[in-house]
Amino acid sequence: MSEKWTPDSWRNKPIRQVPTYLDEELVKSVEQDLTGFPPLVFAGEARNLKKQLAEVSAGRGFLLQGGDCAESFAEFHPNNIRDTFKVLLQMAVVLTYGANRPVVKVGRLAGQFAKPRSADTETINGVELPSYRGDIINGFDFTDEARIPDPKRMLTAYSQAASTLNLLRAFAQGGYADLNQVQQWNMGFVASRPQGERYSEMANRIQDALAFMEACGIKSENVPQMAKTDFYTSHEALLLRYEQALTRVDSTTGEYYDTSAHMLWIGDRTRDPDEAHVEFLRGVGNPVGVKAGPSQDPETLLRLIDKLNPTNEAGRITVICRFGAGNVDKHLPALIRKVEQEGRNVVWSCDPMHGNTIKSSTGYKTRPFDRILSEVREFFDVHAAEGTYAGGLHFEMTGKDVTECLGGAFEVTEEDLSDRYHTACDPRLNANQALELAFLIAETLKDQRGESKVAAIAS
Ligand code: PEP
Ligand code: CO
Repeated sequence: MSEKWTPDSWRNKPIRQVPTYLDEELVKSVEQDLTGFPPLVFAGEARNLKKQLAEVSAGRGFLLQGGDCAESFAEFHPNNIRDTFKVLLQMAVVLTYGANRPVVKVGRLAGQFAKPRSADTETINGVELPSYRGDIINGFDFTDEARIPDPKRMLTAYSQAASTLNLLRAFAQGGYADLNQVQQWNMGFVASRPQGERYSEMANRIQDALAFMEACGIKSENVPQMAKTDFYTSHEALLLRYEQALTRVDSTTGEYYDTSAHMLWIGDRTRDPDEAHVEFLRGVGNPVGVKAGPSQDPETLLRLIDKLNPTNEAGRITVICRFGAGNVDKHLPALIRKVEQEGRNVVWSCDPMHGNTIKSSTGYKTRPFDRILSEVREFFDVHAAEGTYAGGLHFEMTGKDVTECLGGAFEVTEEDLSDRYHTACDPRLNANQALELAFLIAETLKDQRGESKVAAIAS
């Protein structure tokens, strides 16, 4: 028998990556306020996402998850939200074209504020201060004052998440995501470059197809799926005091849901099955992601999956693998074999970002485009060899023209990094790099489709 779960049962478990607040009374009053605020998402929406992820786990869809490493209060602007949304739509169209399957779109948006850190403190020029833990906890500036955790930041994060989500809902449902707009999602600074031109050609082909369908009477006015898209939100469920305060009982089913986002994930540093983060997430009905880095062993992964999903419900668990280029075939096969052998239902997704972070000679934390692509290809190859389905991708990216990751067709060099290095945490793909990657991956998907057709005919 498993122990009884309550929204606060995580408080009795060992926990990592928590801020030390100085004023406990103030934290409690913020939690109290949040508890009375409206939910950001509905349980029914989280269940719809779970259904779509169940389709992905069965090989009938593909998951695209992406956005900032850390959203920040300073970068909060409608244009940034719009541009990230646009690039995700573009990538989804490219991948749909390649995979010939529906793409489930999930943003690292509207709540991705809390960051796990590898060290509790940071030292610059001999000065040691607490690490930056994301805007929901403390400030990015390297000063004593900024680095003190401030509970009121949770209220700002809630309010930013609410208005971000409001805009995303308008974009997704209000006509902007209509497939007939496919050409308009191409942004000025991308449009004139090779990826933008390639995208534009593909958009033309889609528009031809739409014109043909319209002639047959199939158009967005009478087929709502063409005029709207489902767009979901997600973030790492790290700051559990915030997550608990947004947890509500769903009146339809009587189950608990964390209404801060549709999907929540557990980071690579907080995925111990006996600790607080797993305890919290096991009790909410949302779809849950679990990061798996090189230290994840098959037995513990299985225990983690069983704790979070004792009924083996399809769509509930997405395993987000992040081993680093060159390491995928060392770690992934054993995890796949264990999960398959035991018949557990999961979506296998690839995060090619977090295992490929290096320091440039100019001192910037960066990620080479080639390594990112290489990890994705290795991930697909291992799944092909194991006979399992590579179902998703997880990126840190932005719609802006930043210079944070190296390489890509419009090459970002080590010297360029300082030009527009704006991230509050890890380096993100810019819009060009993200789109280029989508095209290259779509080609791989197309090749695999071709191969599986040949295999089916031969068998
Ligand atoms: C992240 O996704 O930003 C992150 C910190 O990932 P991981 O837990 O895989 O290191
Ligand atoms: Co990150």
